[in-house]
Amino acid sequence: MRAIVLERTCKANELTVTNVPVPKVKPGWVLVKVKAFGINRSEIITRSYEGDAPYIQLPRILGIECVGEIADSSNSNFKKGQRVVALMGGMGRSFDGGYAEYALLPISQVFAADIDLSWEELAAIPETYFTAYGSLFDCLQLKSNDTLLIRGATSALGLVTLQLAKSIGSTVLATTRSLNKMNLLKKHGADFVLLDDGTLSKQLYSLYTDGVSKILELVGPATLEQSMKFLSHHGIICSTGILGNKGTLENFDPIKGIPNGVYLCSFFSNYPTQEQMNKIFNHIRQYRLKPPISKIFSMDEIADAHLLMESNMANGKIVVTTTE
Ligand SMILES: NC(=O)c1ccc[n+]([C@@H]2O[C@H](COP(=O)([O-])OP(=O)(O)OC[C@H]3O[C@@H](n4cnc5c(N)ncnc54)[C@H](OP(=O)(O)O)[C@@H]3O)[C@@H](O)[C@H]2O)c1
Repeated sequence: MRAIVLERTCKANELTVTNVPVPKVKPGWVLVKVKAFGINRSEIITRSYEGDAPYIQLPRILGIECVGEIADSSNSNFKKGQRVVALMGGMGRSFDGGYAEYALLPISQVFAADIDLSWEELAAIPETYFTAYGSLFDCLQLKSNDTLLIRGATSALGLVTLQLAKSIGSTVLATTRSLNKMNLLKKHGADFVLLDDGTLSKQLYSLYTDGVSKILELVGPATLEQSMKFLSHHGIICSTGILGNKGTLENFDPIKGIPNGVYLCSFFSNYPTQEQMNKIFNHIRQYRLKPPISKIFSMDEIADAHLLMESNMANGKIVVTTTE
């Protein structure tokens, strides 16, 4: 089968397609015929330096998510040919992932996908919608009367959270560092677009003097302590992204760092369930949502797909299809 194997950490333009054997099915694992897969920031990180970490054994097929059909159901309840999505749990890190024509995956990471979407549209869903849905509706407990600030809103994840938040009628303030992308966020339904240029606090308080009720922090620890101050009393902030290239808070003093009467939480997409995936598919059906796709590539164009993500100009989910 054709696959994108990470032999050693490398630059985007060093990624190529190679031929490797189709994995042999084993109990507890199913074989998925991959039709398409989404590209994620974490794969850029694995490809560029995380691949050297002791918990990753190279060579490794990249890819934390994929969509396709069950090729061999092994000892699972899946049927051959059933449409599925798969994500996380070590995909593309502890075991081979979705950048391939076939993926051997633990049953726990594979979910039935009973929704009428093209393979490319479906490929934009598992990791991004699972993270967006969990961050908004589980962690932030988002309601229609909330005012939500999305920091890092032009990311694929940001645009999906914007879409989901607007679908239930919340008011959304969306940030970008780039003047050129302000229109994009307006087009995607943001009520207010704020430029994250060092004057964010002034812009935000001129709109909401008491702050906002909910914040989704996708820039992450780099801006988290500032963002917490933008919350109104009993507001909630969810730290889900690390776009600011900082994964941790050093010397963080929770007593002084978290303002009185606000709540800090986070979301980790490592534990998907069929129940949650069904809720997401129902929500997409109910509100007739279309996943915001940036561009669709072939497997041979994998280097271009990674370069587009690195350019920060994708403005939506990057999808790769396995069909020629
Ligand atoms: N917690 C979890 O389980 C989980 C799951 C999935 C994703 N994530 C994280 O969520 C984030 C979004 O992922 P994605 O794949 O949707 O990203 P993406 O589409 O590649 O994000 C691109 C956007 O990132 C922004 N950006 C890039 N560098 C930045 C910086 N230094 N500071 C501020 N903004 C920056 C740019 O916005 P502007 O140029 O417009 O400012 C750009 O439009 C990532 O950090 C990812 O690791 C976390």
